[in-house]
Amino acid sequence: MESEWDALRALGMFTAVCLLLWVTWGLSYTAYVHLLPQARRGAPWLRAHGAWAVVTGATGGIGRAYAHELARRGLNIVLISRNLSKLEHEAKEIERLHGRVTRVIQADFTGGLEIYEAIKAGLKDLEIGVLVNNVGMLYVPHMMKILDCDNVAKRLSDVINCNMMSVAQMTAIVLPQMVTRRKGVIINISSVLDRRPYPLLSVYSASKAFVRSFSQAVGAEYFSQGVIVQTVSPSIVDTNMTRPMKFQQFRVSPEDFARQALDTVGLTSQTFGCLSHAIQSVLVDLFLPSWFCLSRWGVKFLFLFGVYSTKSEKAL
Ligand SMILES: NC(=O)c1ccc[n+]([C@@H]2O[C@H](COP(=O)([O-])OP(=O)(O)OC[C@H]3O[C@@H](n4cnc5c(N)ncnc54)[C@H](OP(=O)(O)O)[C@@H]3O)[C@@H](O)[C@H]2O)c1
Ligand SMILES: *[C@@H]1O[C@H](CO)[C@@H](O)[C@H](O)[C@H]1NC(C)=O
Ligand SMILES: *[C@@H]1O[C@H](CO)[C@@H](O)[C@H](O)[C@H]1NC(C)=O
Ligand SMILES: *[C@@H]1O[C@H](CO)[C@@H](O)[C@H](O)[C@H]1NC(C)=O
Repeated sequence: MESEWDALRALGMFTAVCLLLWVTWGLSYTAYVHLLPQARRGAPWLRAHGAWAVVTGATGGIGRAYAHELARRGLNIVLISRNLSKLEHEAKEIERLHGRVTRVIQADFTGGLEIYEAIKAGLKDLEIGVLVNNVGMLYVPHMMKILDCDNVAKRLSDVINCNMMSVAQMTAIVLPQMVTRRKGVIINISSVLDRRPYPLLSVYSASKAFVRSFSQAVGAEYFSQGVIVQTVSPSIVDTNMTRPMKFQQFRVSPEDFARQALDTVGLTSQTFGCLSHAIQSVLVDLFLPSWFCLSRWGVKFLFLFGVYSTKSEKAL
């Protein structure tokens, strides 16, 4: 009897120590990545990877903020998105504000393989140090079951091409020269929804899980060849994508977000981008655990109290 209690006590102690170590490690790592300015790599370090940065979805939201922040840190910028007049306007802004050279490429990432030849041609001869795979779309105007949106087939194809195909193809275009030079940074903008399935945003969260998984695996493949791959998983950033959502008070501006997220490059291969988003993610996991969201009641709960403040809008 006595010895059984001793064994249990030892097991309890062991578990408590493991938990304590785990929590301490998590807190120290978070502090290292987000709070220690002296740990950060400076602009010269980033610039040393190559003269140019390529940003997809660069005319709005997070992509635009990354483009400006990278230019401010001394890189020339290639902007890629759909609308030529927006591209030209943003390129001029970058040249005016940061004095860097720019180039624009018009492309619609909902397209398939056919769009990448032109992108490849546009990037030829450039020494690309940083690629930001940012373009991405939600496929529904609010949380809904997959069959409840109209034009399902087109929507699925658009979101999969835009969120997944773009990341893989763009990486394949830029990676060879990075490997040759043994230098390069690839940043994939994923989402906080990438770590588990979210009913009513199923295709979006699955596409972001692809981004995360792909980035980690390719990062491991090319780490020894000098290429750094980072997955950034933001929570809510104040952009057009999140305008119809609730939780205004938790938003981070895209400019603040890009600055803080770029400071973590070279320190961690996976990040929420900024400290407040890291904390939000822990809270969501605590209060909305996966088993609950995937249960019958969880889906009802998400439908009633999900992140969108309006459900009146008709499908996009
Ligand atoms: N905002 C957030 O809170 C949040 C949270 C988690 C993850 N994310 C992710 O962060 C990324 C950027 O989001 P955001 O909120 O910044 O988006 P956004 O404000 O909607 O900006 C989208 C940008 O991408 C371009 N774009 C959109 N569709 C395109 C297409 N089919 N082909 C080419 N370019 C296209 C747009 O320019 P044009 O109109 O000129 O094409 C614009 O420059 C996405 O991958 C998103 O999933 C955002
Ligand atoms: C939202 O889209 C409009 C129209 O394209 C643009 O003028 C505006 O700057 C965008 N806002 C953000 C925060 O990107
Ligand atoms: C491009 O953006 C401008 C400015 O936001 C807008 O006026 C124009 O209609 C857009 N063009 C296309 C083809 O969407
Ligand atoms: C992310 O980074 C990896 C590493 O290079 C790259 O292969 C991949 O295509 C990028 N995009 C996604 C969506 O993972």
